Amino acid sequence: MITSAQPQLADTTLCAPLGPTLGNAEFEFIRHVIAENAGIVLGPNKRHLVQGRLAKRLRELELGTYEEYCDHVRESGPEELVGLINALTTNVTAFFRENHHFEALASYMLPEAMKRNQQSRRLRIWSAGCSSGEEPYCLAMVASEVVPASARWDLKILATDIDSEMVATAQRGIYPVDRLAAVSPERLRRNFRRGTGDNAGNARIDPALARLISFRPLNLLKPWPMRGPFDIIFCRNVMIYFDQPTRERLVARFSELLADDGYLCLGHSESIHSGTSAFRLVGKTIYRKGGSISRAL
Ligand SMILES: C[S@@+](CC[C@H](N)C(=O)[O-])C[C@H]1O[C@@H](n2cnc3c(N)ncnc32)[C@H](O)[C@@H]1O
Repeated sequence: MITSAQPQLADTTLCAPLGPTLGNAEFEFIRHVIAENAGIVLGPNKRHLVQGRLAKRLRELELGTYEEYCDHVRESGPEELVGLINALTTNVTAFFRENHHFEALASYMLPEAMKRNQQSRRLRIWSAGCSSGEEPYCLAMVASEVVPASARWDLKILATDIDSEMVATAQRGIYPVDRLAAVSPERLRRNFRRGTGDNAGNARIDPALARLISFRPLNLLKPWPMRGPFDIIFCRNVMIYFDQPTRERLVARFSELLADDGYLCLGHSESIHSGTSAFRLVGKTIYRKGGSISRAL
């Protein structure tokens, strides 16, 4: 039953936007800045979303209007760009999201890479757009099951995101227990430590698993410091926010950094058009660079 101890608010109050209103000119400016700097295309219907997400930022900066906020973005340059980007990225993720990718990782992506790299014993995986870390930790859990620790493989996972706050959260590796429903009891036992005292209700990633991963802030639109080659790249549910030319440029850059026969996994609504790239579709949103089409659907 819903009880109402507070006096009812008039409808007009409920409909009125909370805090300052984002005007047309300021919305257009923010759309332009976020597209130019992060590649994120915000449609003209996203004004309320932008206003909602930036309201906290205005309060933090003690600014009363969006005009003032836009001036602050112009004047502070790269500094506030970080705040703006962090506020406007969509960071939805989950442990073992789109689990078929992790099944494929165990059943053929990693075994093939191990066969190919038998001499170098080097394995490299990149989680590009890792958000709060669930994706790279799942990569690490599966890889540590498949790659025998005793055989001295040089296994490293790079996890990057443009959102510096997400990278910090990912690096902390602490998650509410109710976010771990998709992790099997065996994997929970092996890879998590249950929090006690102030940390009751949370679980921490085991340091041995975390050591496999390097977390770094990285804007996918900017130059990349790493040389590769990577055996496997996960870039899932990131390109969906970009326009088509940006997606194509990114796919071409992934291809340059992937080993021949390496794999690229995309999100459920993302795809690469066959014929326009070095990639072949070999599974549900799983692409292989070059090579034969033996696993094609
Ligand atoms: C929806 S999350 C996807 C997380 C994870 N890959 C998954 O599928 O569960 C998208 C992530 O892409 C990041 N992102 C957006 N634009 C980016 C850019 N230009 N460079 C790097 N990361 C970006 C966002 O910060 C966000 O954390």
